[in-house]
Amino acid sequence: MQKQVEYSDAVKTKYPEQVVIAIAKDRNGKANPITLGWTMIVSGTPPMMAISVAKTHYSIEAITHSRTFTIAFPSSQMADAALFFGSKSGRDIDKFAEFDCKTEPAKSIDSVLLADAVANFECTLESQVPAGDHIIFVGEIVSSHINTEPKKRLYTVGPGHKLGSVS
Ligand SMILES: Cc1cc2nc3c(=O)[nH]c(=O)nc-3n(C[C@H](O)[C@H](O)[C@H](O)COP(=O)(O)O)c2cc1C
Repeated sequence: MQKQVEYSDAVKTKYPEQVVIAIAKDRNGKANPITLGWTMIVSGTPPMMAISVAKTHYSIEAITHSRTFTIAFPSSQMADAALFFGSKSGRDIDKFAEFDCKTEPAKSIDSVLLADAVANFECTLESQVPAGDHIIFVGEIVSSHINTEPKKRLYTVGPGHKLGSVS
């Protein structure tokens, strides 16, 4: 049986929600990471992933400028980085200069990989779709990487950006 409630109450049942960090270089060549929960795989052949970014975020400018971005799956040990990248704007600061997070150059696009992430996917912008107050960016995956060490993924496990692992 179902009970009708407000959307804001029903959507609280979504946890755990996966966390990714998308990275795109801006017009000055500064790599800007953004933490995202709203993301999914959208095609198998060719492989594609989508991310949903608020129209007010600086990442919109960086992604539309570079037309390429990385999607990293942060590990459960990367909660502090995810919270930092998800609370500061690249409009105000250089996030990688202010938070120590090991990166490696991407192989197929002009972006960076997160060295300690579970996996990294290099994407070229395939399309973008406005969706209310967000823009959905669809990226075609042109290169994929996994960590050489076994690591668990990071999730949002409850409201208020409570981050952790899921067993
Ligand atoms: C766990 C977590 C999940 C988030 N998910 C999203 C999301 O799906 N879409 C979005 O636009 N912002 C999301 N945010 C907020 C952005 O990461 C945050 O506003 C960031 O500072 C924007 O950076 P920018 O201005 O450099 O683009 C999330 C933040 C956190 C901590």
